[in-house]
Amino acid sequence: CGICGAVGLRHATPIIFEGLRRLEYRGYDSAGIATLVDGQVERRRAAGKLDNLADLLAQDPLPGTTGIGHTRWATHGAPTTGNAHPHGTSRVAIVHNGIIENFETLRRELEGAGQVFETETDSETIAQLVDYHLQQGLTPKEAALRTLRRLEGAYAVAMIFAGHEGLMIGACHNAPLAVGFGDEEMFLGSDSLALAPLTRRIAYMENGDCVILTPQRADFMTFDGTPVERQVQVTALTAGAIGKDGYRHYMEKELHEHPLVIGQTLQRMVDPATRRVSLPDLPFNLASVPRAVITACGSAFYAGMVGRYWLEELARLPVDIDVASEMRYRDPPLTPGSLGLLISQSGETADTLAALRGLREKAIHILSVLNVEHSTMARESDTVLGTVAGPEISVASTKAFTAQLTVLACLSIATARARGKLDSLREEELVGALLDLPSRAADVFKQGDAIRTMARVVAEARDVLYLGRGSLFPVAMEGALKLKEISYIHAEAYAAGEMKHGPISLIDRSVPIVATAPSTPLFDKTLSNLQEAKARGGRLLVFTDTRGAERVGAIAEHMVVLPSVHDFVAPILQTIPVQILAYEVAVLKGTDVDQPRNLAKSVTVE
Ligand code: G6P
Repeated sequence: CGICGAVGLRHATPIIFEGLRRLEYRGYDSAGIATLVDGQVERRRAAGKLDNLADLLAQDPLPGTTGIGHTRWATHGAPTTGNAHPHGTSRVAIVHNGIIENFETLRRELEGAGQVFETETDSETIAQLVDYHLQQGLTPKEAALRTLRRLEGAYAVAMIFAGHEGLMIGACHNAPLAVGFGDEEMFLGSDSLALAPLTRRIAYMENGDCVILTPQRADFMTFDGTPVERQVQVTALTAGAIGKDGYRHYMEKELHEHPLVIGQTLQRMVDPATRRVSLPDLPFNLASVPRAVITACGSAFYAGMVGRYWLEELARLPVDIDVASEMRYRDPPLTPGSLGLLISQSGETADTLAALRGLREKAIHILSVLNVEHSTMARESDTVLGTVAGPEISVASTKAFTAQLTVLACLSIATARARGKLDSLREEELVGALLDLPSRAADVFKQGDAIRTMARVVAEARDVLYLGRGSLFPVAMEGALKLKEISYIHAEAYAAGEMKHGPISLIDRSVPIVATAPSTPLFDKTLSNLQEAKARGGRLLVFTDTRGAERVGAIAEHMVVLPSVHDFVAPILQTIPVQILAYEVAVLKGTDVDQPRNLAKSVTVE
């Protein structure tokens, strides 16, 4: 969920609405704004996308100079207007990101004390608890602090109070919140992206911080009221308008940015003259790291899986990998001095952030591969290797994924060299393969017709099986995830060799098989698995390369032939057509490509 708030002299609603637009990547199930109008709390809320809230505000404008807003990704309670934030009573309105774990206990207590709840949400408990304290005669600040001391879980919250124009209170615990300093106005936002058009002067709140905001001041304190200082940083973010540049969807535009993004990311990490990787200085020695632990969510996790193949094979570094929602509770035994490798486009995903904090407690070096520079994970990492993908707007990740792979490829080379596993000739060969990628990636778009032919087959299916081996297995997983996310077709990815241990029983004419099978050393093995599927009536849709085309052509119903590249970079190149396939299927099915149902670009709750 995303939070935005403003206190000042200007109308708050347009400022907050623009902030919510920029936070929509955190969820778009419902949205709402509350302001103070003649001292009274007034709310406008709408289920569905922000456009619905815009329509409502056009019919029924919301004046006032003190206000808070929210865009929701539903946790407790369906995404209805009634469950939309802000929540509140006649005395207080709040917006909340996160989960209040003890809300049932608090609710029982409050109902016992006569508070009347309107919704099923955990968030309303915060409003009711503040309301209760206000009725006991406490000031807004005292009521807020007393409430915060009772809350358990991860949350960021913003509050406004009836009869208190020019006052807004914010607080956070294990969830991000930033304060923007304006001229006679102050803002709250879930991240600096929300605040970017408003101010460049930002203070990031720390865990357990509360802030009392008036148009002139920001007073930071702990939940027991002890004042704390938080530094104001000047960010480089600009409000830069983000457009589709004539493409039908952001996703289509972002797919076309693959070559550019790979090139830009390489520019930061390799020296084309010497054909050597040059990473920024690291605060630890890659040579002495005993083990790497990779963790991430969604597509970023699949990038990490490719990274595992590279780090093991090239650098001979033992790697443990798990999705962040598991890693954060797994407590693996780790030698201090190991490397924690976190991967995230947004740098805000709650599970990845929690996994980062868990690894830090084990005295692990935290190296994060991130796209958003001023994110929470960036601030909490020892080192950040940036992907230079630019803003990714489409919920389904595309260019950020290949940029992550590019960084991981460079990191693997650097690690291999540091550990004495790579001589300079081999490094030149691998870097050369990477440097070839942007132009090979541009060639993929010449295959548009072949991919659309495949898309017509996939669009008719109810279930699709994706297969790949080795470093191409995660690419199959990325393909299946992308298809599920944006076309709502059920897809599963299997390591090609594992198909015979179960999914082979699903195969018939109605379950197409999408395979990534370029001519890497495992090509023959994958081809045998495809033969097994074909023998059982399976329809094969295969991504291969010029060297593999003849043999694949003999068995596949449709194939897409990409340029042959070095095995090392094959997963990066093969990702592109697999993502395009999902896009073309979604277009055929007429789904909401950029904002598919139920998803959020960055899931900031556990
Ligand atoms: C969400 C998105 C995925 C993304 C994942 C991780 O689930 O729908 O596309 O891969 O979050 O996001 P992150 O920002 O951490 O890379």
